[in-house]
Amino acid sequence: MGAYDESYRRSLDDPHGFWLEAAEAISWTRPPTQALDASAAPIFRWFPDGELNTSYNALDRHVDAGDGERTALIYDSPVTGTGRSYSYTELRDEVATFAGALAGLGVGKGDRVIVYMPMIPEAVVAMLACARLGAIHSVVFGGFAPRELAARIEDAGPKVIVAASCGIEPSRVVEYKPIIDEALTIASHRPAYTVVLQRPQAEAQLGERDLDWTSLVAQAQPAGPVPVAATDPLYILYTSGTTGRPKGVVRDNGGHAVALAWTMRNVYDVGPGDVWWTASDVGWVVGHSYIVYAPLLAGATTVLYEGKPVGTPDAGAFWRVISEHGVKALFTAPTAIRAIKKVDPEAAEPAKYPMDTFRTLFLAGERLDPETYHWAHDHLDVPVVDHWWQTETGWPIAANPRGLEPLPTKPGSATVPMPGWNVQILDTYGKELLPHEEGSIAIKLPLPPGALPTLWGDDQRYIDSYLKEYDGYYLTGDGGYIDDDGYIFVMGRTDDVINVAGHRLSTGSIEAVVASNPAVAECAVIGVHDALKGQLPRAFVVLKAGATVTDDVLRDELVAAVRREIGPVAAFRDVSVVEALPKTRSGKILRRTMRGIADGRDEPVPSTIEDPAVLDALRPVLRG
Ligand code: COA
Ligand code: AMP
Repeated sequence: MGAYDESYRRSLDDPHGFWLEAAEAISWTRPPTQALDASAAPIFRWFPDGELNTSYNALDRHVDAGDGERTALIYDSPVTGTGRSYSYTELRDEVATFAGALAGLGVGKGDRVIVYMPMIPEAVVAMLACARLGAIHSVVFGGFAPRELAARIEDAGPKVIVAASCGIEPSRVVEYKPIIDEALTIASHRPAYTVVLQRPQAEAQLGERDLDWTSLVAQAQPAGPVPVAATDPLYILYTSGTTGRPKGVVRDNGGHAVALAWTMRNVYDVGPGDVWWTASDVGWVVGHSYIVYAPLLAGATTVLYEGKPVGTPDAGAFWRVISEHGVKALFTAPTAIRAIKKVDPEAAEPAKYPMDTFRTLFLAGERLDPETYHWAHDHLDVPVVDHWWQTETGWPIAANPRGLEPLPTKPGSATVPMPGWNVQILDTYGKELLPHEEGSIAIKLPLPPGALPTLWGDDQRYIDSYLKEYDGYYLTGDGGYIDDDGYIFVMGRTDDVINVAGHRLSTGSIEAVVASNPAVAECAVIGVHDALKGQLPRAFVVLKAGATVTDDVLRDELVAAVRREIGPVAAFRDVSVVEALPKTRSGKILRRTMRGIADGRDEPVPSTIEDPAVLDALRPVLRG
């Protein structure tokens, strides 16, 4: 048996032994003696008697071990033309001081803090400062509109918001303060303060409850790490579900630290002093886990890149960063590679930058299409590793464990399940399917450490959303199959979640915005294939009788509304006005069938359909 098989088997046969051993990579103020607490099943907790501080493990531990001079973070910002490196000592000190500043505002263990910041070092400092105090951060991605921010403020009930005055997109400067102010007119919850880091590209006007980051920090005393229970929440990260209301995915402290430390060594093959770069955003789970926490827990150097794969300034940006900073491994989304490939199909750019240190390209966030896999593989001269995970899981469910035992690659497959993930393919009745049979991908409970224990403040919603469909399993929402060698092929979502340029969105929330237009009688939004972004949302709209609006005007109104209500990141542009939508006899719109036809599949006509002629009339529109 190889090292992978051995680890995987042991993680399922002896989870206590496996995870308690993995927990030795973490410094605990009280080491756990028990791995899994199943007393409140189906809600499981890991390391119930352990106690630790995550920021201590990410920072102080390395300084205390004599590695304070090692580089912790490299900030590289082509959009501002600036950059800076932080040693572990410097980052620890900045985090301790900002933690002291937050404590001075009354933030303590269990309090929530919303972080609304772009890809700047202060975002990392704010997150780790919360962790230091045992406070719970909730980072909101900058591309969301005020209403989305408001929903998160309402649900998390933060004591403080920490923000920057602006984010910088290649096409424009995005002022954050007006977005926050508008969100606060929508949400009924009132945080005590908003701390604003002023950036020179657009300084914010500060109001009564607003505090300037720099002045606040100048007066603050450093705060030490506060021990918390392993089961205490470290953060809440909101993600799109199938309804318009985002789900507050909870991450605990202990399981998270243990799982991430395990992955850095065993999946990514990255250890102390290695330079690691995740080109994503701190607003997404990939950013939480692999820009901030995992590389620092491992004592590696993390690159924080404020820029895009193309246009900042060109399609060589990624290779420049790898070359300049000596990056060992890059983790990004397939979309980023597709964007580079579109501009530089013959791969002239990589040849301009010596990349002697570069060992592996990791891709996740959406399906890695074989064409993109082959382009990267052929032109970059490193293994290209597809791996599959979700906001909920916090770390890869399936991957090629490059550090533990590199396995052969199969293009189109995310390789094999990682320890603790008992992945099964189920049919609609919950029966486990055979190799190569496609079905719903589910994971046998309990989920391993680091996966969500619940949704913020709503155990019942957690159970209803993920555990109800199949008794004893977590429903991933993805469909796919496993082959004879145990390789997992993830084929796409089976629900109304779509993936636009690696950004997860709910068609339900876009539908809600479209449906609120006075001319719209009913609508369906589905994700359709896009060569660059993987998927794009597309709306099919039935007008109210007597509506006089032209198709063009309606489209402009709807596009503007989705930008305003959800955000530019939805990339919503496509509206088709149709006579009717296909429905079941009980009135449910046949979205799944519509999706299948739009994706070019030979969808069978469901037996429950009310009027097959409606679907026939829609077919050419869906295919067009
Ligand atoms: N703050 C404010 N606005 C943002 C934003 C942010 N943090 N991120 C994106 N936006 C805006 C963009 O400016 C754009 O607005 P526009 O319609 O006015 O031009 C819109 O949201 C869509 O942005 P984006 O998805 O970045 O599309 P793009 O066409 O500008 O760029 C790519 C395409 C492929 C270069 C880009 O999507 C990309 O870098 N993808 C990588 C994805 C990724 O890292 N995903 C994380 C999961 S691992
Ligand atoms: P998010 O929660 O934003 O990380 O999105 C998770 C979803 O992205 C998953 O449920 C999948 O649909 C999709 N996804 C992520 N990684 C992969 C992958 N490697 N292959 C296929 N789909 C993926």
